[in-house]
Amino acid sequence: MGASLYEPINVYKPVAPHIGIVDGPFEYLTVGGIRLPLPFTTRMTVIRLSNGDLFLHSPVKFDWRLAECLQGLGTVRHLVSPNQFHYAHIGEWARAFPETISWASPRVRQRAWARHLDIDFTRDLDVSAPVEWRREIDQLLFPGGYFKEFVFFHKASRTLILTDTIINLELDKVSEPWRTAAKLSGMHHPYGQIFFGMRLPLLFQRRKAKAAIGKIESWQPKRILLSHGRCFDSDAYEVIRRMFGRRR
Ligand SMILES: [Fe+2]
Repeated sequence: MGASLYEPINVYKPVAPHIGIVDGPFEYLTVGGIRLPLPFTTRMTVIRLSNGDLFLHSPVKFDWRLAECLQGLGTVRHLVSPNQFHYAHIGEWARAFPETISWASPRVRQRAWARHLDIDFTRDLDVSAPVEWRREIDQLLFPGGYFKEFVFFHKASRTLILTDTIINLELDKVSEPWRTAAKLSGMHHPYGQIFFGMRLPLLFQRRKAKAAIGKIESWQPKRILLSHGRCFDSDAYEVIRRMFGRRR
């Protein structure tokens, strides 16, 4: 069985007031500049701030119809790269919307430069949320060595937004070798798992991990949005306890 998308793609799907997701088209793994025939799906989260600005977390490939739809929701403003692996389409959105601010994650500038992607990151994400969204969205830097990422929390809807920290692939929606990798690593529905590349670094960064997990628990999220695989629409607190419990 081949890979399948989270249809419909390039459509805003509300999950709660002022927050929704957009499932994107297939992305392909590239190694050494060569695109491999290994498709996977990614998902963007969109938050509408109270001033009408839109916060685009891990933007999917630019699409004009999607852009027009989002303009109906608010002003496309913040283009957020949560980690150094999720940034590739920020330049496309920034060129279409010159008034946007592109937010950099650690190492993402070097990564974009090495891949000849012309992205002008104007601001850097920090361990505390910037004034632009801090009343509505909290954030922290989740440790994980090379794979560390910024995680976000939309306060009004109590939604935790993760990129690669937790992966929950649906085995019947992915092709090989992802299916075998997901099976072996436990990163599949219904339980999901911490991204395997983060697990060893987390053991060596116990103090930071404990602080980050404590803060996530204090948020008491209701749902978890993920960039890969199926989101957790409910029982988020249980998922976090199960996933991170023994790392505290
Ligand atoms: Fe990812």
